[in-house]
Amino acid sequence: MKLIFLGPPGAGKGTQAKRIEQVHNLVQLSTGDMLRAAIASGSDVGKQAKEVMDGGNLVSDDIVVGIVAERLKDDDLENGFILDGFPRTVGQAKSLDKMLSDRSEALDAVVSIDVDDELLVERITGRYTCAKCGKGYHDMFERPETEGVCDRCGSTAFSRRADDNAETVRERLKAYHAETAPLLPYYAEKGILKTIDGMTEIEQVTGQIDEVLNGIN
Ligand code: AP5
Ligand code: MG
Repeated sequence: MKLIFLGPPGAGKGTQAKRIEQVHNLVQLSTGDMLRAAIASGSDVGKQAKEVMDGGNLVSDDIVVGIVAERLKDDDLENGFILDGFPRTVGQAKSLDKMLSDRSEALDAVVSIDVDDELLVERITGRYTCAKCGKGYHDMFERPETEGVCDRCGSTAFSRRADDNAETVRERLKAYHAETAPLLPYYAEKGILKTIDGMTEIEQVTGQIDEVLNGIN
């Protein structure tokens, strides 16, 4: 299966991609994670991306499409993938269409996780991850079983993203509405858009996505 998880910042794209990839044997491809890895490595792409991301704006289509094109060449994607946070502009969507058609492949579904703006700031400013294994948590909605200890790997080191502050979130939301929301009619016209309610509990959102995916198989 080849899927896109679409939604505003904090909608739950990453949380759900990590849950769904395990059950359906898919690979999560997050352009945000790839760009953060580029920043951490100190590469030229990372240097260009850092300032843009810290301001809550979108990195250029050329850079992001280049990163995805390289990743799609890897041989761990035979069973399919979940694109998390890509495409984010109509230009990126058209580039993806071309990349897939060149490989005689097509998207199975675009899952749009629908969440009102007011909820998103609260979700993002409460988010943190395990610094060792990357498992995601939230100050209110997803706490570790033992406070300060990662459920998955036992590490006691956690980190928060540089762009997870209220001011930057507002810029990211503006970018979403201006540049990414037009992808909803783009994929609706292709007949592959599936919209789900992202304002329920994490488990229930996963259940809705499962239902969509079971309908595809
Ligand atoms: P990216 O890393 O993709 O960030 P984003 O789109 O802003 O989305 P987030 O990762 O913030 O949210 P999410 O939907 O994954 O939510 P999560 O599951 O973590 O991109 C970062 C930046 O990189 C962009 O701003 C841009 O600059 C650049 N970039 C990336 N891709 C690009 C592209 N294609 N083109 C150009 N630039 C690009 O959930 C959030 C929190 O809420 C978590 O703590 C979670 O535990 C909690 N939570 C999740 N679901 C629920 C629920 N149902 N109920 C309660 N809490 C929940
Ligand atoms: Mg994410």
